[in-house]
Amino acid sequence: MRHLLDVCDLSVEELNELIHTAEDIAAHGEKYANVMSGKKLATLFFEPSTRTRLSFEAAMLQLGGSVIGFSEASSSSASKGECVGDTVRVVSNYADIIAMRHPVEGAALAAAERSEVPIVNAGDGGHCHPTQTLADLLTIHRELKRLDNLTIGLCGDLLYGRTVHSLINAMLRYDGIEFVLISPEQLQLPDYTVQALEAAGAKVKITRYLEEYMQDLDVLYMTRVQRERFPNLEDYERVKDCYVLTPETLQKAKPTMRILHPLPRVNEIAKSVDDDPRAAYFRQTLNGKLMRMALIMFLLEHKSAEGKLPKGEKSCSKCPNPKCITNVENGFEMKTRRDEKGTLRCLYCEHEII
Ligand code: CP
Repeated sequence: MRHLLDVCDLSVEELNELIHTAEDIAAHGEKYANVMSGKKLATLFFEPSTRTRLSFEAAMLQLGGSVIGFSEASSSSASKGECVGDTVRVVSNYADIIAMRHPVEGAALAAAERSEVPIVNAGDGGHCHPTQTLADLLTIHRELKRLDNLTIGLCGDLLYGRTVHSLINAMLRYDGIEFVLISPEQLQLPDYTVQALEAAGAKVKITRYLEEYMQDLDVLYMTRVQRERFPNLEDYERVKDCYVLTPETLQKAKPTMRILHPLPRVNEIAKSVDDDPRAAYFRQTLNGKLMRMALIMFLLEHKSAEGKLPKGEKSCSKCPNPKCITNVENGFEMKTRRDEKGTLRCLYCEHEII
Protein backbone atom coordinates (compact mmCIF):
# COMPACT_ATOMS: atom_id res chain seq x y z
CA MET A 1 0.00 0.00 0.00
CA ARG A 2 1.33 3.43 -0.91
CA HIS A 3 0.68 6.62 1.03
CA LEU A 4 1.67 10.20 0.21
CA LEU A 5 2.92 11.78 3.44
CA ASP A 6 5.87 13.74 2.06
CA VAL A 7 6.61 14.65 -1.54
CA CYS A 8 9.83 12.58 -1.28
CA ASP A 9 7.65 9.45 -1.02
CA LEU A 10 7.45 9.81 -4.81
CA SER A 11 10.49 9.29 -7.02
CA VAL A 12 11.27 11.83 -9.74
CA GLU A 13 10.06 9.26 -12.29
CA GLU A 14 6.77 8.96 -10.40
CA LEU A 15 6.41 12.74 -10.19
CA ASN A 16 6.98 12.95 -13.92
CA GLU A 17 4.43 10.15 -14.48
CA LEU A 18 1.83 12.08 -12.45
CA ILE A 19 2.53 15.24 -14.45
CA HIS A 20 2.16 13.30 -17.70
CA THR A 21 -1.16 11.80 -16.52
CA ALA A 22 -2.46 15.20 -15.35
CA GLU A 23 -1.64 16.72 -18.74
CA ASP A 24 -3.44 13.84 -20.45
CA ILE A 25 -6.48 14.41 -18.20
CA ALA A 26 -6.44 18.09 -19.18
CA ALA A 27 -6.42 17.14 -22.87
CA HIS A 28 -8.68 14.04 -22.81
CA GLY A 29 -10.80 14.25 -19.65
CA GLU A 30 -13.50 11.98 -21.08
CA LYS A 31 -11.11 8.98 -20.97
CA TYR A 32 -11.06 9.18 -17.17
CA ALA A 33 -14.77 9.73 -16.48
CA ASN A 34 -15.41 6.32 -14.88
CA VAL A 35 -12.05 4.97 -13.81
CA MET A 36 -12.86 5.26 -10.08
CA SER A 37 -16.43 4.02 -10.35
CA GLY A 38 -17.36 2.20 -7.12
CA LYS A 39 -14.45 3.74 -5.16
CA LYS A 40 -14.83 6.14 -2.24
CA LEU A 41 -12.60 8.98 -1.07
CA ALA A 42 -12.86 10.17 2.54
CA THR A 43 -11.81 13.78 3.20
CA LEU A 44 -10.99 14.19 6.90
CA PHE A 45 -10.33 17.89 7.40
CA PHE A 46 -9.60 18.84 11.01
CA GLU A 47 -8.55 22.32 9.75
CA PRO A 48 -10.19 24.77 7.33
CA SER A 49 -9.61 24.44 3.59
CA THR A 50 -11.14 25.62 0.34
CA ARG A 51 -8.85 24.42 -2.44
CA THR A 52 -7.40 21.20 -1.10
CA ARG A 53 -10.63 19.65 0.15
CA LEU A 54 -12.84 20.77 -2.71
CA SER A 55 -10.29 19.90 -5.39
CA PHE A 56 -9.85 16.42 -3.88
CA GLU A 57 -13.61 15.96 -3.88
CA ALA A 58 -13.99 17.36 -7.40
CA ALA A 59 -11.15 15.09 -8.53
CA MET A 60 -12.79 11.93 -7.19
CA LEU A 61 -16.23 12.87 -8.56
CA GLN A 62 -14.72 13.63 -11.98
CA LEU A 63 -13.15 10.15 -11.97
CA GLY A 64 -16.58 8.59 -11.37
CA GLY A 65 -16.01 7.83 -7.67
CA SER A 66 -17.81 9.15 -4.62
CA VAL A 67 -16.88 11.13 -1.53
CA ILE A 68 -17.58 11.07 2.22
CA GLY A 69 -16.01 13.13 4.99
CA PHE A 70 -16.06 16.11 7.30
CA SER A 71 -14.73 19.63 6.93
CA GLU A 72 -14.09 20.58 10.56
CA ALA A 73 -12.95 18.78 13.68
CA SER A 74 -16.00 20.02 15.61
CA SER A 75 -18.34 17.89 13.49
CA SER A 76 -16.26 14.72 14.05
CA SER A 77 -15.69 12.66 17.18
CA ALA A 78 -12.32 14.38 17.59
CA SER A 79 -14.43 16.93 19.49
CA LYS A 80 -15.18 14.14 22.01
CA GLY A 81 -11.50 13.31 22.38
CA GLU A 82 -11.02 10.60 19.74
CA CYS A 83 -7.40 10.33 18.58
CA VAL A 84 -6.33 10.54 14.93
CA GLY A 85 -5.24 6.90 14.82
CA ASP A 86 -8.67 5.66 15.93
CA THR A 87 -10.51 7.97 13.53
CA VAL A 88 -8.46 6.76 10.60
CA ARG A 89 -8.74 3.10 11.59
CA VAL A 90 -12.51 3.45 11.57
CA VAL A 91 -12.76 5.45 8.35
CA SER A 92 -10.54 2.96 6.52
CA ASN A 93 -13.52 0.57 6.89
CA TYR A 94 -15.66 3.02 4.94
CA ALA A 95 -13.41 4.39 2.19
CA ASP A 96 -10.75 3.23 -0.30
CA ILE A 97 -8.49 6.25 0.17
CA ILE A 98 -8.26 9.06 2.75
CA ALA A 99 -7.12 12.66 2.30
CA MET A 100 -6.47 14.17 5.73
CA ARG A 101 -5.59 17.68 6.93
CA HIS A 102 -4.66 18.09 10.56
CA PRO A 103 -3.17 20.99 12.59
CA VAL A 104 -0.62 18.77 14.34
CA GLU A 105 2.82 18.06 12.82
CA GLY A 106 3.38 14.38 12.11
CA ALA A 107 -0.35 13.56 12.22
CA ALA A 108 -0.22 12.19 8.67
CA LEU A 109 2.41 9.57 9.50
CA ALA A 110 0.55 8.68 12.71
CA ALA A 111 -2.59 8.17 10.62
CA ALA A 112 -0.79 6.06 8.01
CA GLU A 113 0.53 3.77 10.73
CA ARG A 114 -3.06 2.90 11.69
CA SER A 115 -4.75 2.96 8.28
CA GLU A 116 -5.84 0.04 6.13
CA VAL A 117 -6.08 2.29 3.05
CA PRO A 118 -3.77 4.90 1.43
CA ILE A 119 -3.42 8.16 3.36
CA VAL A 120 -2.74 11.41 1.55
CA ASN A 121 -1.32 14.19 3.68
CA ALA A 122 -3.40 17.25 2.83
CA GLY A 123 -1.31 19.34 5.26
CA ASP A 124 -0.04 18.47 8.76
CA GLY A 125 0.41 21.67 10.73
CA GLY A 126 3.42 23.69 9.56
CA HIS A 127 5.23 20.55 8.40
CA CYS A 128 4.35 19.37 4.85
CA HIS A 129 1.75 19.79 2.13
CA PRO A 130 2.79 17.40 -0.65
CA THR A 131 -0.30 17.66 -2.87
CA GLN A 132 0.13 21.44 -3.03
CA THR A 133 3.59 20.70 -4.35
CA LEU A 134 2.08 18.47 -7.02
CA ALA A 135 -0.05 21.45 -8.09
CA ASP A 136 3.05 23.67 -8.04
CA LEU A 137 5.11 21.26 -10.16
CA LEU A 138 2.40 20.91 -12.79
CA THR A 139 1.99 24.69 -12.89
CA ILE A 140 5.71 25.28 -13.42
CA HIS A 141 5.81 22.54 -16.06
CA ARG A 142 2.77 23.84 -17.96
CA GLU A 143 3.85 27.48 -17.77
CA LEU A 144 7.62 27.17 -18.38
CA LYS A 145 7.87 23.75 -20.08
CA ARG A 146 10.60 22.54 -17.74
CA LEU A 147 11.34 21.63 -14.13
CA ASP A 148 15.11 22.03 -14.28
CA ASN A 149 17.46 25.01 -14.65
CA LEU A 150 15.24 27.39 -12.73
CA THR A 151 15.85 30.18 -10.25
CA ILE A 152 13.02 30.04 -7.74
CA GLY A 153 12.30 32.85 -5.29
CA LEU A 154 10.39 31.80 -2.16
CA CYS A 155 8.94 34.80 -0.38
CA GLY A 156 7.20 35.38 2.94
CA ASP A 157 6.58 32.87 5.71
CA LEU A 158 9.27 30.26 5.09
CA LEU A 159 9.09 29.07 8.70
CA TYR A 160 5.46 28.01 9.01
CA GLY A 161 4.65 27.81 5.27
CA ARG A 162 4.41 24.04 4.82
CA THR A 163 4.01 24.39 1.04
CA VAL A 164 7.49 25.93 0.88
CA HIS A 165 9.08 23.00 2.74
CA SER A 166 7.48 20.48 0.39
CA LEU A 167 8.33 22.49 -2.75
CA ILE A 168 12.00 22.77 -1.75
CA ASN A 169 12.19 19.01 -1.10
CA ALA A 170 10.73 18.34 -4.53
CA MET A 171 12.83 20.85 -6.49
CA LEU A 172 16.07 19.66 -4.85
CA ARG A 173 15.77 16.55 -7.00
CA TYR A 174 15.85 18.42 -10.31
CA ASP A 175 19.06 19.70 -11.94
CA GLY A 176 20.19 23.30 -12.04
CA ILE A 177 17.83 24.71 -9.40
CA GLU A 178 18.83 27.84 -7.53
CA PHE A 179 16.79 29.10 -4.56
CA VAL A 180 16.37 32.70 -3.44
CA LEU A 181 14.94 32.76 0.09
CA ILE A 182 13.16 36.04 0.80
CA SER A 183 11.92 36.51 4.36
CA PRO A 184 12.39 38.50 7.55
CA GLU A 185 14.72 36.85 10.06
CA GLN A 186 11.80 35.64 12.22
CA LEU A 187 10.31 33.67 9.32
CA GLN A 188 13.35 31.86 7.94
CA LEU A 189 13.21 28.17 7.05
CA PRO A 190 13.05 25.53 9.81
CA ASP A 191 16.32 23.72 10.45
CA TYR A 192 15.21 20.44 8.85
CA THR A 193 14.63 22.21 5.52
CA VAL A 194 17.93 24.12 5.80
CA GLN A 195 19.61 20.75 6.42
CA ALA A 196 17.95 19.28 3.31
CA LEU A 197 19.29 22.20 1.24
CA GLU A 198 22.78 21.82 2.70
CA ALA A 199 22.82 18.03 2.25
CA ALA A 200 21.91 18.47 -1.42
CA GLY A 201 24.57 21.19 -1.89
CA ALA A 202 21.90 23.48 -3.32
CA LYS A 203 22.67 26.99 -4.53
CA VAL A 204 20.91 29.37 -2.13
CA LYS A 205 20.75 33.15 -1.80
CA ILE A 206 19.16 34.73 1.25
CA THR A 207 17.70 38.23 1.38
CA ARG A 208 15.15 40.31 3.24
CA TYR A 209 14.33 42.35 0.14
CA LEU A 210 11.73 41.20 -2.37
CA GLU A 211 13.21 43.17 -5.25
CA GLU A 212 16.91 42.36 -4.73
CA TYR A 213 17.03 39.35 -7.09
CA MET A 214 13.75 39.95 -8.94
CA GLN A 215 15.48 40.19 -12.35
CA ASP A 216 16.98 36.67 -11.92
CA LEU A 217 13.81 34.77 -11.03
CA ASP A 218 12.02 32.27 -13.26
CA VAL A 219 9.44 31.56 -10.55
CA LEU A 220 8.37 33.79 -7.66
CA TYR A 221 6.52 31.74 -5.04
CA MET A 222 4.66 34.10 -2.71
CA THR A 223 3.23 32.87 0.60
CA ARG A 224 0.81 34.11 3.24
CA VAL A 225 2.12 34.77 6.74
CA GLN A 226 0.45 31.90 8.63
CA ARG A 227 -1.32 33.69 11.48
CA GLU A 228 -2.74 30.44 12.89
CA ARG A 229 0.74 29.00 13.55
CA PHE A 230 2.18 31.92 15.57
CA PRO A 231 2.60 31.47 19.31
CA ASN A 232 1.14 34.96 19.90
CA LEU A 233 -0.66 37.67 17.95
CA GLU A 234 1.97 40.39 18.62
CA ASP A 235 4.65 38.42 16.77
CA TYR A 236 2.25 37.96 13.86
CA GLU A 237 1.31 41.67 13.76
CA ARG A 238 5.01 42.61 13.49
CA VAL A 239 5.56 40.65 10.27
CA LYS A 240 2.13 40.20 8.70
CA ASP A 241 2.57 42.79 5.94
CA CYS A 242 6.30 42.35 5.41
CA TYR A 243 5.89 41.84 1.63
CA VAL A 244 3.33 43.11 -0.83
CA LEU A 245 3.81 42.25 -4.50
CA THR A 246 2.57 45.08 -6.74
CA PRO A 247 2.98 46.00 -10.43
CA GLU A 248 5.77 48.38 -9.29
CA THR A 249 7.76 45.67 -7.45
CA LEU A 250 7.51 43.54 -10.61
CA GLN A 251 9.14 46.12 -12.86
CA LYS A 252 12.50 44.33 -13.06
CA ALA A 253 10.98 40.84 -13.42
CA LYS A 254 11.47 38.82 -16.62
CA PRO A 255 8.48 38.78 -18.98
CA THR A 256 8.60 34.97 -18.72
CA MET A 257 8.68 34.85 -14.91
CA ARG A 258 5.70 33.16 -13.29
CA ILE A 259 4.11 34.14 -9.97
CA LEU A 260 2.79 31.24 -7.92
CA HIS A 261 0.97 31.28 -4.59
CA PRO A 262 -0.68 28.29 -2.89
CA LEU A 263 -3.53 30.63 -1.82
CA PRO A 264 -5.40 31.81 0.16
CA ARG A 265 -3.75 35.23 -0.09
CA VAL A 266 -4.31 38.04 2.35
CA ASN A 267 -2.34 41.20 1.42
CA GLU A 268 0.88 39.78 -0.02
CA ILE A 269 -0.20 40.10 -3.66
CA ALA A 270 -2.07 43.23 -4.69
CA LYS A 271 -5.22 42.50 -6.69
CA SER A 272 -3.81 44.75 -9.43
CA VAL A 273 -1.29 41.95 -10.19
CA ASP A 274 -4.04 39.42 -11.00
CA ASP A 275 -4.39 40.48 -14.64
CA ASP A 276 -0.65 40.29 -15.31
CA PRO A 277 -0.09 37.27 -17.61
CA ARG A 278 2.73 36.20 -15.29
CA ALA A 279 0.26 35.68 -12.43
CA ALA A 280 -0.28 31.90 -12.50
CA TYR A 281 -1.90 31.40 -9.09
CA PHE A 282 -5.47 30.88 -10.24
CA ARG A 283 -4.34 28.52 -13.01
CA GLN A 284 -2.41 26.72 -10.24
CA THR A 285 -5.71 25.84 -8.50
CA LEU A 286 -6.99 24.00 -11.59
CA ASN A 287 -3.66 22.19 -11.82
CA GLY A 288 -4.19 21.07 -8.20
CA LYS A 289 -7.36 19.24 -9.19
CA LEU A 290 -5.68 17.59 -12.22
CA MET A 291 -2.76 16.37 -10.10
CA ARG A 292 -5.07 15.08 -7.37
CA MET A 293 -6.97 13.10 -10.04
CA ALA A 294 -3.67 11.62 -11.22
CA LEU A 295 -2.63 10.89 -7.63
CA ILE A 296 -5.86 9.12 -6.66
CA MET A 297 -5.47 6.81 -9.67
CA PHE A 298 -1.79 6.26 -8.92
CA LEU A 299 -2.31 5.33 -5.26
CA LEU A 300 -5.27 3.06 -5.87
CA GLU A 301 -3.51 1.33 -8.75
CA HIS A 302 -0.37 0.75 -6.63
CA LYS A 303 -2.24 -1.00 -3.82
CA SER A 304 -0.09 -4.09 -3.93
CA ALA A 305 3.23 -2.22 -4.19
CA GLU A 306 5.65 -2.45 -1.30
CA GLY A 307 4.82 -0.15 1.62
CA LYS A 308 7.07 2.83 2.10
CA LEU A 309 6.28 4.02 5.62
CA PRO A 310 9.45 5.38 7.23
CA LYS A 311 10.73 3.16 10.00
CA GLY A 312 12.28 4.78 13.07
CA GLU A 313 13.95 3.60 16.24
CA LYS A 314 11.94 3.51 19.45
CA SER A 315 13.14 6.28 21.73
CA CYS A 316 12.72 7.38 25.35
CA SER A 317 13.45 11.01 24.37
CA LYS A 318 10.65 13.52 24.11
CA CYS A 319 10.18 15.54 20.92
CA PRO A 320 11.04 19.20 21.69
CA ASN A 321 8.30 20.40 19.33
CA PRO A 322 5.12 21.07 21.34
CA LYS A 323 3.13 20.94 18.09
CA CYS A 324 4.28 17.37 17.32
CA ILE A 325 1.73 14.56 17.37
CA THR A 326 3.88 12.71 19.91
CA ASN A 327 3.24 15.52 22.41
CA VAL A 328 -0.38 16.17 21.51
CA GLU A 329 -1.86 12.66 21.61
CA ASN A 330 -1.63 10.34 24.61
CA GLY A 331 0.05 6.96 24.54
CA PHE A 332 2.28 7.72 21.57
CA GLU A 333 5.42 5.71 21.08
CA MET A 334 8.16 8.18 20.21
CA LYS A 335 10.42 7.17 17.29
CA THR A 336 13.52 8.84 15.89
CA ARG A 337 15.71 8.61 12.80
CA ARG A 338 19.09 10.02 11.76
CA ASP A 339 19.22 12.34 8.75
CA GLU A 340 22.00 12.45 6.11
CA LYS A 341 24.22 14.46 8.47
CA GLY A 342 23.68 12.09 11.40
CA THR A 343 21.37 14.49 13.27
CA LEU A 344 18.79 12.70 15.40
CA ARG A 345 15.26 13.74 14.42
CA CYS A 346 11.71 12.97 15.44
CA LEU A 347 10.32 10.53 12.87
CA TYR A 348 6.96 12.33 12.86
CA CYS A 349 7.69 16.07 12.70
CA GLU A 350 11.45 16.08 11.79
CA HIS A 351 12.48 18.35 14.68
CA GLU A 352 15.98 17.80 15.99
CA ILE A 353 16.21 15.74 19.19
CA ILE A 354 18.86 17.20 21.45
N1 CP B 1 -3.41 25.90 -0.85
C1 CP B 1 -4.21 25.38 0.13
O1 CP B 1 -3.85 24.43 0.84
O2 CP B 1 -5.43 26.00 0.21
P1 CP B 1 -6.58 25.60 1.23
O3 CP B 1 -6.08 25.87 2.61
O4 CP B 1 -7.76 26.44 0.84
O5 CP B 1 -6.83 24.13 1.03
